[in-house]
Amino acid sequence: MAPAFLLFLLLFPVSLASADEGPFIGVNLGTDLSDMPSPTQVVALLKAQNIRHVRLYDTDQAMLLALANSGIRVTVAVPNDQLLGIGQSNATAANWVARNIIAHVPATNITAIAVGSEVLTTLQNAAPVLVSAMNFIHSALVASNLDGRIKVSTPHSSSIIIDSFPPSQAFFNRTWDPVMVPLLKFLQSTGSYIMLNVYPYYDYMQSNGVIPLDYALFRPLPPNKEAVDSNTLLHYTNVFDAVVDAAYFSMSYLNFTNVPIVVTESGWPSKGDSSEPDATLENANTYNSNLIKHVLNNTGTPKHPGIAVSTYIYELYNEDLRPGSVSEKNWGLFDANGAPIYILHLTGAGMVLANDTTNQTFCVAKDGSDKKMLQAALDWACGPGKVDCSLLLQGQACYEPDNVVAHATYAFNAYYQKMVKAPGTCDFKGVATVTTTDPSHGSCIFPGSIGRNGTSVNGTILAPSSNSTSSGCPPKYFADVGSITSSVIVAFLLLMSVLL
Ligand SMILES: *[C@@H]1O[C@H](CO)[C@@H](O)[C@H](O)[C@H]1NC(C)=O
Ligand SMILES: *[C@@H]1O[C@H](CO)[C@@H](O)[C@H](O)[C@H]1NC(C)=O
Ligand SMILES: *[C@@H]1O[C@H](CO)[C@@H](O)[C@H](O)[C@H]1NC(C)=O
Ligand SMILES: *[C@@H]1O[C@H](CO)[C@@H](O)[C@H](O)[C@H]1NC(C)=O
Ligand SMILES: *[C@@H]1O[C@H](CO)[C@@H](O)[C@H](O)[C@H]1NC(C)=O
Ligand SMILES: *[C@@H]1O[C@H](CO)[C@@H](O)[C@H](O)[C@H]1NC(C)=O
Ligand SMILES: *[C@@H]1O[C@H](CO)[C@@H](O)[C@H](O)[C@H]1NC(C)=O
Ligand SMILES: *[C@@H]1O[C@H](CO)[C@@H](O)[C@H](O)[C@H]1NC(C)=O
Ligand SMILES: *[C@@H]1O[C@H](CO)[C@@H](O)[C@H](O)[C@H]1NC(C)=O
Ligand SMILES: *[C@@H]1O[C@H](CO)[C@@H](O)[C@H](O)[C@H]1NC(C)=O
Repeated sequence: MAPAFLLFLLLFPVSLASADEGPFIGVNLGTDLSDMPSPTQVVALLKAQNIRHVRLYDTDQAMLLALANSGIRVTVAVPNDQLLGIGQSNATAANWVARNIIAHVPATNITAIAVGSEVLTTLQNAAPVLVSAMNFIHSALVASNLDGRIKVSTPHSSSIIIDSFPPSQAFFNRTWDPVMVPLLKFLQSTGSYIMLNVYPYYDYMQSNGVIPLDYALFRPLPPNKEAVDSNTLLHYTNVFDAVVDAAYFSMSYLNFTNVPIVVTESGWPSKGDSSEPDATLENANTYNSNLIKHVLNNTGTPKHPGIAVSTYIYELYNEDLRPGSVSEKNWGLFDANGAPIYILHLTGAGMVLANDTTNQTFCVAKDGSDKKMLQAALDWACGPGKVDCSLLLQGQACYEPDNVVAHATYAFNAYYQKMVKAPGTCDFKGVATVTTTDPSHGSCIFPGSIGRNGTSVNGTILAPSSNSTSSGCPPKYFADVGSITSSVIVAFLLLMSVLL
């Protein structure tokens, strides 16, 4: 019964693989497009957007060649269908490395190899050889003296985490302990990181209303809605942090406390079918904009504040050929022409970011509003409200689509902009609402839009770029902190008191 305080001062550095940089935002390059841009076009888009990190799902030779000397860091993959072969034979692994890695470095800056994808949840028969595959690949890198610059890991679905809230009680599905334990040992001993795919969109969709949309989208919550981990008393303001912390806790449950996390996939679809009402432009923009700010701000998570959680956005392009629901095809930031699906709101994300010149709001007809009330409000706006509604006349740019919702949206917004967005000017008896998504379409450019005149863009509701009428290039809205050279090997103190 001799009570004593033991103060543990644990000073442990957690360094990301790219320890010479701060946190970064990268993008995933899926290629299921009917009109897949050429590798040169892909690289041009990445450069124009100042995207310095890309993850490929393979080792496409033309793509790797196009990425040579681009300054872009590349994560490549051993596709799942090659995993069994590589996991069963170190010679096959060495061949793979020779053909797909050694042939391309250093011109192409390959910084990581993702061995398989979500193997434990999608390819369970390969699970027994997963760690061998990683070891064989790593050995081949060692033999070529490339292990220092190229990390080996494997992306996991966050569904391997059981009971992920509260995060402090989370653990990896015990079925996979025989794989996870040697896997984490491998990551630890090779200075690598765990790769995790984090999809608050699916967590939200599957929660049947338990998870508030705002919590999934990183929007502010009233304090009584914040999620508190009753064991740690840590406050969670968004799903992303809670999942990342659940992964940290799951690792520490297996006694691994210093393996960093890189989020290999996260995003939000901008379009869905009727069963996916939250797959909208607005939500996708909000999620990705907030995610980028959150990551680049180096906020870390409640468990590990200030520890970088670099993240690859899923994904660069909308993939129209992906099977499945409408949302499956609409996770992209760009269409096949390299036109942005929406312009991210990145104001205030830091000096390194291109300024968000789109700090725009628009007034639109509210979904599901009564048609008669919309018509009345439309008539008012174009009459007593003195809005110029000439573009709504037949033959004019905003006539199509010829329905009351579209026309009311135009008129509401014109009024709202005319009134300099004064409070109360976007209400129209409750049938109007403010949005940050530019409703301009085709050649119908809405008042308040700083838009490009939609001639080069087809049909989709695109937020216009600020200065691209002639070049057709979307604005730079992406940046990372790659130019920061100072070390971000971050040390933090964990002060723990243990009552004996
Ligand atoms: C390759 O990427 C690494 C890690 O980010 C970086 O340190 C290095 O400077 C890059 N090399 C080139 C040639 O850009
Ligand atoms: C593969 O493993 C065998 C036995 O462990 C070893 O003798 C051989 O050198 C390895 N081959 C390569 C290419 O690493
Ligand atoms: C754990 O993984 C096994 C094997 O995939 C699966 O059958 C089981 O349902 C998972 N457990 C939970 C709670 O998800
Ligand atoms: C973690 O470490 C504790 C204390 O050393 C030990 O009791 C426990 O069995 C370990 N857990 C695992 C999964 O190795
Ligand atoms: C950025 O980080 C600072 C402190 O680290 C925090 O106060 C601020 O709320 C963060 N901003 C965002 C947008 O996360
Ligand atoms: C962004 O705009 C702010 C305010 O206008 C300005 O102070 C800042 O320098 C700008 N940042 C960049 C990178 O242009
Ligand atoms: C953006 O809009 C907000 C709200 O209307 C305003 O307070 C802020 O000053 C604007 N920022 C810029 C850079 O225009
Ligand atoms: C768009 O540009 C074309 C040609 O540059 C011009 O004829 C047309 O009037 C413009 N439309 C709008 C709405 O500005
Ligand atoms: C625009 O759409 C039309 C028909 O929908 C199509 O014929 C044309 O090729 C498209 N143009 C571009 C640049 O995508
Ligand atoms: C638009 O382009 C012109 C000419 O290239 C340039 O002078 C101007 O600064 C640009 N404006 C913006 C907002 O980027």
